[in-house]
Amino acid sequence: MQIEGLFPLALGQVQLRPDPLVVARQLQAILELRGLAEANPDPACAWTGDINGVWQLHRHPTFVGLIDELCVHACAYLDALGFDRTRLALHLQRCWPVVSGPGQVVGRHHHPNAHLSGVYYLNGDGRGHSGCLRLWPFRQVNELVPGLAVGHDGPFCSPDGTPAGWLQPWVDVAPRAGLFVLFPSSTDHAVLSNGEDDGRFSISLDFVLTAPAGAAAAEYLAPHPQEWLPLA
Ligand SMILES: [Fe+2]
Repeated sequence: MQIEGLFPLALGQVQLRPDPLVVARQLQAILELRGLAEANPDPACAWTGDINGVWQLHRHPTFVGLIDELCVHACAYLDALGFDRTRLALHLQRCWPVVSGPGQVVGRHHHPNAHLSGVYYLNGDGRGHSGCLRLWPFRQVNELVPGLAVGHDGPFCSPDGTPAGWLQPWVDVAPRAGLFVLFPSSTDHAVLSNGEDDGRFSISLDFVLTAPAGAAAAEYLAPHPQEWLPLA
């Protein structure tokens, strides 16, 4: 029996080839922006710029070129999904660095403020010991019995008795320098425990879709922000 299918989560991945000297400057800039803080503030939690006043990395001269390049790939992601971009406007809403020290994590969450989210890795070798990104699709239909893949004492064949392959309730992405990952913002995700050696450096991006300026919006698509009326 051969099973073919489409994974229900559109996970975009593109591998960039950054100049090592540029990366070194970016790492240094992130450390300077972080300052003396090392957590969020729970010592087990990675430091994230979004809640520490560092959420406009796209306006920082050290990162403008990189973020411009990432935004081109975000547009390509929309193309790949089948959207007509002449009837959409894609906005970069916020962009922030994340630094995970040894053993630090980012707990499971999603981004209700955005529609499309991305993460770019400044370091990592792809082997998964520097804090994998774990994504949980909305519903794991392949478990057949709802909850079976996460419940106690699952009847699975894998050597360690955990769900694997089609039955796995999540997808892990290992950080690799230059890798850019895109996924729907509504997808629950977390960053697993970082290894004990190096800091894990990444940049997160949140995008929002609206109608183009001056154009009628499709149902459920917000008009362009310049047509909004600020009240307070
Ligand atoms: Fe996140």
